[in-house]
Amino acid sequence: MATVLSVSGSPSASSRTNRLLRHLDRRLTAQGHEVIPLDVRTLPAEALLGADFHHPAIVAATELFARVDGVVVGTPVYKASYSGVLKALLDLLPQYALTGKTVLPLATGGTTAHVLAIDYALRPVLNSMGAAHIVQGWFTLDKDITVHEDGTLSVAPDATEALVQVVDQFSAALDRAPVLTAAG
Ligand SMILES: Cc1cc2nc3c(=O)[nH]c(=O)nc-3n(C[C@H](O)[C@H](O)[C@H](O)COP(=O)(O)O)c2cc1C
Repeated sequence: MATVLSVSGSPSASSRTNRLLRHLDRRLTAQGHEVIPLDVRTLPAEALLGADFHHPAIVAATELFARVDGVVVGTPVYKASYSGVLKALLDLLPQYALTGKTVLPLATGGTTAHVLAIDYALRPVLNSMGAAHIVQGWFTLDKDITVHEDGTLSVAPDATEALVQVVDQFSAALDRAPVLTAAG
């Protein structure tokens, strides 16, 4: 069993990315992993924007990254790239905060024109932070994610099939990876 940090990088209070990640968290939990959700928008804005490395909430987030085996990084595509709040958090982490970790990059977006944003924008950053293994990611169109009035989520069948595949590949990679300690 691995421990996974599931990071949602949308600033939106009604974020589809966030809902999608929490939906996928349940699949990872059912596969025996411990999943810790982290919504970047809940971190204090003044700490994120003021580069306050020593703010208790930033220190706590940094410790979470240090103690997990795997990280799901989910972002909406904004202006053809990942979100600014996600970058603000990543900038406050140690340079090699992802050393030895297995990472699953996910994105949601409004147009397939930016389907490669994971690969040209997000993946290089994750790689620079020392990720041991960045598994295949997936871009989901926002129109394929429906949040119902009762709060439940449904995802279009084709997108569901692809997401299940990348989540299961991530899960299998976690199972194969050597277990990390907090000391790395
Ligand atoms: C400020 C802003 C910029 C956006 N830029 C893009 C873009 O460049 N490419 C794209 O495919 N979608 C773009 N979108 C659409 C969002 O990526 C999409 O609706 C996403 O699912 C929103 O996720 P969220 O609800 O988690 O914030 C943009 C949305 C906003 C609000």
